[in-house]
Amino acid sequence: MARGKSAAKDTRKNSKGAPPAPVEATPTPPEAPLAKRRPARVRPDIASLPAYVPGARGDGRAMWKISSNENPAHPLPGVLAAIADAAEDVNRYPDMYAVELTEAIARRLGVGPERVVCANGSVSALAHVMSAACLSGDEVVYPWRSFEAYPITVQVSGATSVRVPLTAEARHDLPAMAAAVTDRTRVVITCSPNNPTGPALRDAEFREFLAAVPEDVLVVLDEAYIEYVRDPDVVDALAILADFPNVVLLRTFSKAYGLAGLRVGFAVGDPAVIAAVRAVSTPFGVNALAQRAAVESLRLERQLLDRVSETVAERERVLEAVRRAGWDVPETEANFFWLALGRDTVPFVDAAHDAGLLVRGFAGEGVRVTIAEPEANDAVIRLLREWKRS
Ligand SMILES: Cc1ncc(COP(=O)(O)O)c(C=O)c1O
Repeated sequence: MARGKSAAKDTRKNSKGAPPAPVEATPTPPEAPLAKRRPARVRPDIASLPAYVPGARGDGRAMWKISSNENPAHPLPGVLAAIADAAEDVNRYPDMYAVELTEAIARRLGVGPERVVCANGSVSALAHVMSAACLSGDEVVYPWRSFEAYPITVQVSGATSVRVPLTAEARHDLPAMAAAVTDRTRVVITCSPNNPTGPALRDAEFREFLAAVPEDVLVVLDEAYIEYVRDPDVVDALAILADFPNVVLLRTFSKAYGLAGLRVGFAVGDPAVIAAVRAVSTPFGVNALAQRAAVESLRLERQLLDRVSETVAERERVLEAVRRAGWDVPETEANFFWLALGRDTVPFVDAAHDAGLLVRGFAGEGVRVTIAEPEANDAVIRLLREWKRS
């Protein structure tokens, strides 16, 4: 099976590479019947939450999983060693505030550690920002389509979503977003590069937008894919933070740093805002393995970012081939690209599946394709050429 392909087969081994020793299985008790009484009451609006759709999984066949914008490269040996070392102490709680990691991130970004808070993935950092900022009835403005966690996080916080459609070029419509801000708006979320469409925000347009947003409205800048950006005119987030204390930056170790499975991300902002986010954060929210792996990843950043450059080179190769085959693909600064297939979305997802490719479809809208190993990318190019010819 090719590296990076996923299959249902269980290939777990212990650290020495030998299969796990057989252990006597604990007998499974019969499933307990449900009580006849009514279950306790939960918030009625939870039933209407849109489901977060995880990237597709294979059906046992070896498939290229290009549905979750993951990094195709395995962790560096140094990162694996840090994880193994930390694993020896998992009988202990992790450092509650991830102090070493927080300080390492702060040093890397050139800000004080009181301006950084770590979380169990940047999606948790976003949820904590919402808890810290929103009360029931408040409004949160965000572009749509964008990252599917936004509507869920907003609704869970008790706030109301105000979605602003993307432009025809699949970019944020920043003037329309500024116009959507009302007295009830507490937070505006921006995503650069935008998942799932790809374009990144430019510095000049973002500064103009921030100047139009009231100072007491929090503006989240989600930069999950920032390491893949090559356009020199995109938002300079750290300079923006220095000028606009109402901006909170979200970043992650899940993508460029290849630690999606460990769950670690962080928020950077004004110390008062970050203190509030820390106050509502899940205690011990970042596990010890993630803390150690992230610190080591920052130490080995050069090597990791070289791998990112390989993905960026692949992105340019794929986009050129795909556009040459007649596809209209929006500009992308991320490790994925967008195909606005509309009604053809579901048939395309099925055709990709038949070709051994797990892509992420958004029914009626389009398909997001992750840039992965060259072999997977070649299969994508082949499929897109054939689809145009058929
Ligand atoms: C825009 C965006 N933000 C945040 C995340 C989540 O990152 P994390 O794994 O750090 O929770 C993703 C993951 O797909 C994403 O696309």
